[in-house]
Amino acid sequence: MKNDIKTTLVTKEELEQRVKAIGAQITEDYRGKELVLVGVLKGAFMFLGDLARSIEIPLEVDFMAVSSYGHSTVSSGVVKILKDLDLEIEGKDILIVEDIIDTGLTLSYLVNNLKSRGASSVKICTLLDKPERRKVQVEIKYKGFDIPDEFVVGYGIDYAEKYRNYPEVAVLKEETYNK
Ligand code: PRP
Ligand code: MN
Ligand code: MG
Repeated sequence: MKNDIKTTLVTKEELEQRVKAIGAQITEDYRGKELVLVGVLKGAFMFLGDLARSIEIPLEVDFMAVSSYGHSTVSSGVVKILKDLDLEIEGKDILIVEDIIDTGLTLSYLVNNLKSRGASSVKICTLLDKPERRKVQVEIKYKGFDIPDEFVVGYGIDYAEKYRNYPEVAVLKEETYNK
């Protein structure tokens, strides 16, 4: 796995520090509210796990799976719900947890969808942001890092379903795509 990596963009230490800081901020902002973390599968699973542990108020966890990329590196722009929430979210304060925002298509769809179910609030927490790639504007409440427009893997993020378990955010060597 390590042999396929060209460079590291965000180290383990940087991830740990930033996730803790965001967790502390959420703890403060959501005290007394009915917080539900909604992880977007699959990419957000690792970030959500670490983030939830750094939040020190009661919360609920749920997941959604939506399709946007599949096995391609380009966004199709089509968002489809593959797995819906289990929880009723009417009156709840929803924080959508994402690994990365690219075009913004996935999140703009999700925010509208969750608002239409009567949530009290719907906000976004993303670990990574590629602002250069945005097609639709989305309002981000918590952000880990801005990154350049490069295809990244690790810390939950895949290339063709692999590398999600790589513990840092990294860029693959070009020849890896052509394997
Ligand atoms: C990736 C990423 C975000 C989305 C961002 O997910 O995890 O969910 O794309 O792209 P957008 O801003 O252009 O909509 P992907 O569809 O690859 O699924 P995965 O999380 O299961 O890998
Ligand atoms: Mn995803
Ligand atoms: Mg993916």
